[in-house]
Amino acid sequence: MTESADPKQPFRQPLAPKRILLAVGGGIAAYKSATLCSRLAQAGHHVQAAMTHSATEFLGAATLTALSGRPVAIASFDKSHPLGPHIEHADGVDLMIVAPATANLIAKFAHGIADDLISTLYLQNLAPVLIAPAMSDPMWSKPSVQRNIAQLAEDGCHLVGPESGWLSCRVRGTGRMSEPETILAHAMDLLVSRNHLASDQPSDDGS
Ligand SMILES: Cc1cc2nc3c(=O)[nH]c(=O)nc-3n(C[C@H](O)[C@H](O)[C@H](O)COP(=O)(O)O)c2cc1C
Repeated sequence: MTESADPKQPFRQPLAPKRILLAVGGGIAAYKSATLCSRLAQAGHHVQAAMTHSATEFLGAATLTALSGRPVAIASFDKSHPLGPHIEHADGVDLMIVAPATANLIAKFAHGIADDLISTLYLQNLAPVLIAPAMSDPMWSKPSVQRNIAQLAEDGCHLVGPESGWLSCRVRGTGRMSEPETILAHAMDLLVSRNHLASDQPSDDGS
């Protein structure tokens, strides 16, 4: 499932800053998404982070708020977004990254379920989607999870990982989320390839 971008090589950067929607699911690997968020912001990209309610058990919203410089979107209903956070946060996005993508989010995406902000954003989003699954080896090996992943690949989602190695459940296996540098390299590759199809001009607001 892992695509071929080599994290050891200096990754290609799009010429203009891009709008990136970073969706964080409820798994241990959420801590790595703080680094990913920081690296995207340091590269000059406009990062809007969104978290599931479960994700907030693993990583404080304040961390992603500070690293991205913007309030994290968590609630589906928010008076400060009269059109709905799923409409406003999906608007003008260049790339949606889902890291970690839990078995639950993967299932919801594969089946068109929209019962929280991130699953609704996935349906509303028009940009390419990069999914970084993370879960235990038994979860990853389940036929239902593999069916859902295959469905997402068929639907045009880009997948990075999971990798084999040490898992937080204290065993070795497959299900470890790719490292932030690897996800970043894939994300930049996607954005640069996309520039071959569209001009690389900054958006109206300078981002
Ligand atoms: C300590 C702990 C670690 C977990 N790690 C994962 C994980 O790595 N991947 C996963 O798919 N679910 C994991 N789960 C289960 C999810 O948190 C659970 O399925 C949750 O409903 C996911 O919600 P979300 O997809 O809305 O974030 C973990 C649960 C706990 C208590």
